[in-house]
Amino acid sequence: MSEHADPQPVPPASVVLVSGGSRGLGLAIVTDLVERGVRVAAFARTVTPELAKLAAEHSDRTHVDAVDVTDHAATSAFLRAAEQRLGPVDGLVNNAAVGQDSLHAHTAAEDIGRIVETNLTAPLRLTRLVVRRLLARGRRGRIVNVTSICAQRGFPGLVAYSATKGGMDAATRSLARELGGRMLVNAVAPGFFASEMSAVLGPTQLDQIVRRTPTGHLTEPAEVVPVVRMLLREQTNINGQVIVVDGAASV
Ligand SMILES: NC(=O)c1ccc[n+]([C@@H]2O[C@H](COP(=O)([O-])OP(=O)(O)OC[C@H]3O[C@@H](n4cnc5c(N)ncnc54)[C@H](OP(=O)(O)O)[C@@H]3O)[C@@H](O)[C@H]2O)c1
Repeated sequence: MSEHADPQPVPPASVVLVSGGSRGLGLAIVTDLVERGVRVAAFARTVTPELAKLAAEHSDRTHVDAVDVTDHAATSAFLRAAEQRLGPVDGLVNNAAVGQDSLHAHTAAEDIGRIVETNLTAPLRLTRLVVRRLLARGRRGRIVNVTSICAQRGFPGLVAYSATKGGMDAATRSLARELGGRMLVNAVAPGFFASEMSAVLGPTQLDQIVRRTPTGHLTEPAEVVPVVRMLLREQTNINGQVIVVDGAASV
């Protein structure tokens, strides 16, 4: 079933919820938006000193808390509290995720469940929550899903993880069609970048990725952030797309 198309442009998001905003790429996205005057709600299971400091410095336009994205009641309560403080959320960045470093045959069944729950089920539920509130108010919005190049290219040790990212890429396309232009829904698929998640990669694997990358370096979070900002804030007709940011490593 698809909604009727709506030709009005979708305005820039002014209150953005970022999941997993405590460190790595999520913290970089939160910092960039806050420094540009955007009101930002961010959560992770632990509020790091870096996120707490940013929130304290910009207390008028931030709302942060410790929330597990797989806890539906807690994410709902966080969203309500964030909206009371900052106004209606009209931008969502599904960034929180857990990685994997195990061959599929050696991955415990519970670990597969946890990866799927965190990286696929939880963002779909959070998206549903945000979309329902926006539609109920007759408002428009922007959604950015942080996926991965792993959804498009094969990497050993990342089978369940890749499946979740491919699932989010597919959901991005279908939701963009379903929302009929009321919201712009896109995904950003970075190549490997240094973070706690990718710390499991050894120097040999990192060297190999760099050698395969025409731009000659690993992707930096700072090279992904402007693309996320553009999808949230700029007037474009980009919708239902997965934008790869990997220096052409996968081309
Ligand atoms: N690093 C890479 O090479 C790479 C490449 C392509 C795509 N990505 C994607 O980029 C995004 C950010 O990754 P990153 O490298 O910045 O990872 P990271 O440093 O491990 O950060 C992940 C963030 O998600 C949060 N998180 C994890 N599980 C959560 C849960 N159950 N509930 C709430 N928050 C949770 C973490 O905080 P807590 O642990 O405190 O909850 C943290 O804030 C992810 O979607 C990842 O899949 C990463």
